[in-house]
Amino acid sequence: MFRCPKCNEPLHRHGMSYICAYHHCYDCAKSGYVNLTLRQKKQHGDDAMMIQARTVFLSNGYYASLQKALLRELRLLNPQVLIDGGCGQGYYTNALADHLPNCEVYGFDLSKYALKTAAKGNARVHYAVASVAQLPLFDACADCVVSIFAPLYEQEMHRVLKDGGAMIRIGPGPRHLWELKQALYDKVYENTEPAPLSLFTLRNVVTVDYSITLNDHKDLEALFSMTPYVYRTSRIKAERLKEWQADSIQLQFRMEIWQK
Ligand SMILES: C[S@@+](CC[C@H](N)C(=O)[O-])C[C@H]1O[C@@H](n2cnc3c(N)ncnc32)[C@H](O)[C@@H]1O
Ligand SMILES: [Zn+2]
Repeated sequence: MFRCPKCNEPLHRHGMSYICAYHHCYDCAKSGYVNLTLRQKKQHGDDAMMIQARTVFLSNGYYASLQKALLRELRLLNPQVLIDGGCGQGYYTNALADHLPNCEVYGFDLSKYALKTAAKGNARVHYAVASVAQLPLFDACADCVVSIFAPLYEQEMHRVLKDGGAMIRIGPGPRHLWELKQALYDKVYENTEPAPLSLFTLRNVVTVDYSITLNDHKDLEALFSMTPYVYRTSRIKAERLKEWQADSIQLQFRMEIWQK
């Protein structure tokens, strides 16, 4: 289903490479993903440290309830072709592929560090380095697109979805990570609702809301490192976390189901 980013012709798999009719060739990495970007130097997605932090945190199951809630929605939608845009290290992508055996699953991310981990986790998923702003895919090829805490380019999502297809956008609810924010900042604000999409119709909004207790300080550091707060917090404020004994932290996810 991939198309060549240089000429837009279909790519065919030959051994460990994808090749188009004009002989543009893209080799797969050992782990199994293929790089289909045309060298966007400035865009590289999350770095190795960020990926490592997220892998440590997610592997402890703290976001498993969100994974289950997403799977519930997707079982109802029953897609044949599913795209995860900004899939990271495939925490959701790989689980979806495992639980939707009749669905062909594609994962895209700009970070090759993320895709290395993702591709090792599930050989059934087609992983490619590409920007979600310009996917190496044909028009109207997918039944469903998911975008989980990732940048979303509405027009591009619309282009790759079939008519009637679904787009699931997941992001933080108003009080996501509330106690962590309280520990870091003097004044804490609720997250605002994301801007509505204009090319899609909103079909449903599901809130997934629960609290977690972290196993240890290592998990707290991993959680902090995988949030945008790691870039926005001064060193003095970040130091506060060392003293903080987190009893419980509220997680609140907002899952929107849109239809083309
Ligand atoms: C917060 S992470 C979420 C990853 C995954 N969806 C999850 O929830 O575990 C955001 C991901 O988007 C990727 N990313 C950022 N800009 C991107 C773009 N323009 N195209 C594709 N991926 C992008 C980053 O590399 C990162 O892996
Ligand atoms: Zn080509």
